[in-house]
Amino acid sequence: MPALEELRAAYAAAGQDHVFTFYDSLTSTEQASFLTQLASIDPARITHIASSVLSSITFPDSTPGEITPLPSAATASLLTASSADIAKWYDAGITLLAQNSVAVVLLAGGQGTRLGSADPKGCFDIGLPSHASLFELQAHRILGLQRLVQDTTGVTKVVIPWYIMTSGPTRAPTEAFFSKNRYFGLAPSDVIFFEQGVLPCIDNSGKIMLDTPSSVAVAPDGNGGIYRALVQQHVLADMAARGVKHVHAYCVDNCLARLADPVFLGFASSRGVAVATKSVPKRAPEESVGLIVSKNKRPAVIEYSEISTEMAAARAEDGELALRTANIVNHYYSTSYLADIPEWPESYLPYHVARKKIPCTDLTTGTRIAPASPNGIKLEQFIFDCFPQLQMSEFANLEVRREDEFSPLKNKAGTVGEDDADSSRADLLRQGKRWLLAAGASFDDDVLGVEVPPLISYAGEGLDAAKGKHFSDTCLLTL
Ligand code: UD1
Repeated sequence: MPALEELRAAYAAAGQDHVFTFYDSLTSTEQASFLTQLASIDPARITHIASSVLSSITFPDSTPGEITPLPSAATASLLTASSADIAKWYDAGITLLAQNSVAVVLLAGGQGTRLGSADPKGCFDIGLPSHASLFELQAHRILGLQRLVQDTTGVTKVVIPWYIMTSGPTRAPTEAFFSKNRYFGLAPSDVIFFEQGVLPCIDNSGKIMLDTPSSVAVAPDGNGGIYRALVQQHVLADMAARGVKHVHAYCVDNCLARLADPVFLGFASSRGVAVATKSVPKRAPEESVGLIVSKNKRPAVIEYSEISTEMAAARAEDGELALRTANIVNHYYSTSYLADIPEWPESYLPYHVARKKIPCTDLTTGTRIAPASPNGIKLEQFIFDCFPQLQMSEFANLEVRREDEFSPLKNKAGTVGEDDADSSRADLLRQGKRWLLAAGASFDDDVLGVEVPPLISYAGEGLDAAKGKHFSDTCLLTL
């Protein structure tokens, strides 16, 4: 058991010894588990973070820096690229996949509060004819791509390991879902779960909050927790052992996400960059997406909450939004870049403040409080906040077609009217229709689309057998 006196001294030195308020009245079992939790927290680090975030709230950064669109040298667009360039990137990506040098990392630690579902978002059924969950669609995209690469290159065994980052609240249900569904046909040894960290919640004066008299209130540390977790949960070591050199990271909520997309891998690796991103043209000034920009001549993402209405609405000479590079959290990393994470200073990734209603224990009465308004702060790091440490030459962005690659599930259907299960389903069905029309199939006018399972086609290829078929209903394609 961690030594009580040492812990008391460390927490007192950090001005956080109020956490011991109820210690003497706890049972010995409660004391033991509490001490284990306290030993896992560095109170001096939390006090330091708290004082820096609270002072930046009091004295907000009044010099946000020069924000401009990314320079054209750092970008390419599938909307305008030549088919020769796209084919070159695709082939380069297929070669990397055939070398078994690519891994995929899924960000699945979010709790999906806006969606109003208690299950992890990946378990969600968006109402497709197959009733496939987001996890199933994504698993089958990996499986389909492995087979595609094997078939096109003749390599007998292509493996794309899938590292799934969960958080305290999502880990157990996510693992149970995969196990119940037999890993959707993937080899369990190639699906690796790991868990992001947590940070204590703090009150408005920077004090660590108690959940119960014998536990600290904690919350997941944001999707930027990925970097610490990649090291601490030995993910980078596992990737190195498997010979992985290129990593694709993406969000769970996008039913159109192209996992380990050969075009993106080929684009990023042929430019030799440390990090690359995918973006889509921003839909409208008010769309709730981050923007990939140049900030003080470094790559950066600014969140929708961080820019003025005027800046969001400004138009370029061509009439398009001046800042239109919408962030869809699809990242490429070279593993040589990720290998340096242990050397990153604490200041590398800033902490963001999320003011929340945090159930807690009142220190004077020991009673449980269920606050009606925000009473504390959850500290979060964002995955893209390391970008400004890069030179622009180490970074590249690929603009992709929204209708092919981005349809996020954020909201409960029937509430906001966009980015929900209805729009996700419709986008996936329409994409299937486009692919089938291109393959020579035909449709009744009123048919929205057809579900093309990822095991039949990864990105529209392999549909020759659909030539001449006619669809008079929305259905699941079988060939
Ligand atoms: C995110 C982006 C935003 C982008 C938008 C596109 C961030 C901080 N913002 O916004 O720039 O335009 O997606 O859809 O990324 N997650 C974790 N652990 C956490 C919190 C989140 O793994 O502690 C994961 C979620 O499971 C999800 C992803 O990160 O896969 C994005 O999180 P979400 O909360 O949906 O981000 P948005 O606010 O929508």
